[in-house]
Amino acid sequence: MKNILVTGGAGFIGSNFIRYILNKNEEVRVINVDKLTYAGNLENLKGLEGNPRYIFEKIDICNKQAVKRVMEDYNVDTIINFAAESHVDRSIVDPTEFINTNIKGTQILLDIAKKIWTIGEDKYKEGTRYVQVSTDEVYGSLEQDEKCFTEKTPLNPHSPYSASKASADMLVKAYYDTYKFPACITRCSNNYGPYQFPEKFIPLIINNCLKHKLIPIYGDGSNIRDWLYVEDHCEAIYKVALKGKIGDIYNIGGHNERTNIQIVKKIINYMHDNVDDSINEKLITYVKDRKGHDKRYGINPEKIFKELNWIPKTQFEDGIVQTIKWYLKNQEWLENVVSGEYEKYYNRMYKI
Ligand code: NAD
Ligand code: TYD
Repeated sequence: MKNILVTGGAGFIGSNFIRYILNKNEEVRVINVDKLTYAGNLENLKGLEGNPRYIFEKIDICNKQAVKRVMEDYNVDTIINFAAESHVDRSIVDPTEFINTNIKGTQILLDIAKKIWTIGEDKYKEGTRYVQVSTDEVYGSLEQDEKCFTEKTPLNPHSPYSASKASADMLVKAYYDTYKFPACITRCSNNYGPYQFPEKFIPLIINNCLKHKLIPIYGDGSNIRDWLYVEDHCEAIYKVALKGKIGDIYNIGGHNERTNIQIVKKIINYMHDNVDDSINEKLITYVKDRKGHDKRYGINPEKIFKELNWIPKTQFEDGIVQTIKWYLKNQEWLENVVSGEYEKYYNRMYKI
């Protein structure tokens, strides 16, 4: 039985990953460690309570004693570090927590795992593995005609969020280079799918359509993101955890670049045709651009395809419909997450 420590498992990708892995592999136990910040929500894991292969502990990854205890108590052999402050806009307002969780938290996980897994100089227990879930944003921004990011593209982060993720990646690399620590890094493009907190673009659009609220587009809407369905991302991470080469980086993306305005129009059109014909493009409103707004992200995922035989299975046209349908079916979940803190955040962020 493998004992996988998932950090940040009550967030968007982490909770999808836990469901994915518990459904996929009978020989896995998942220990979910999450601080339950505004972005962490145990409702994302509803139905798993009582599952003998699932354990939850409310822990901050910056708490060394607690991380050590959990790793020892559950004989953890694999760590997948999802825990992070993840929203660029919040990092622009205040980077402090991004530095704490994303950088210091990563170093604490690395340090404790290194101590517990060491069996000799630069030697680690058989089957141990650390996966750092990173982002394409560490590479910076592409121009329209530039080639997509490869694993060799130099790091050039612009936002406090991406700078903190790049710092964490450098620490992971340093642990491998210095101590041969058994780590891999994954760098993924923008995810979408069920359980994403509606501060992020796609669920924000869906929520605003449902409420007939204006949809804020930063700048002129021409910025480009490379969208990947979350379950495809989960599959890729699991492949890296099982078979990725120690010390290597894997880019994960869907060859699916779209402008922001294309995304908004796609969602509005679906909602107009299938939900309520009073939802229309009049909801689009252009607002002040995000500071330092990266123009374009685009991932070249050839390495993970060649080495680990991974390709994304979900076409955007299908994934976006599945996602919208999920939000329509789970409006109680949506109502719970948009009440309280989210409402205050929204009113501070968007004066529309
Ligand atoms: P999220 O914000 O939805 O979830 C983050 C989770 O981490 C939350 O449950 C939160 O409570 C938890 N957390 C935060 N600080 C913590 C701490 N100190 N200790 C323990 N838990 C803590 O984020 P997400 O979108 O699920 O992203 C997961 C990871 O994937 C992040 O590392 C992010 O950088 C990376 N990533 C995300 C995307 C994307 O499109 N969402 C793309 C590429 C990479
Ligand atoms: P986001 O979901 O925050 O992801 P990231 O910035 O990490 O890529 O934003 C995706 C894109 O959508 C990005 O170009 C910013 C833009 N955006 C808006 O135009 N309006 C919004 O209200 C939000 C949240 C994002």
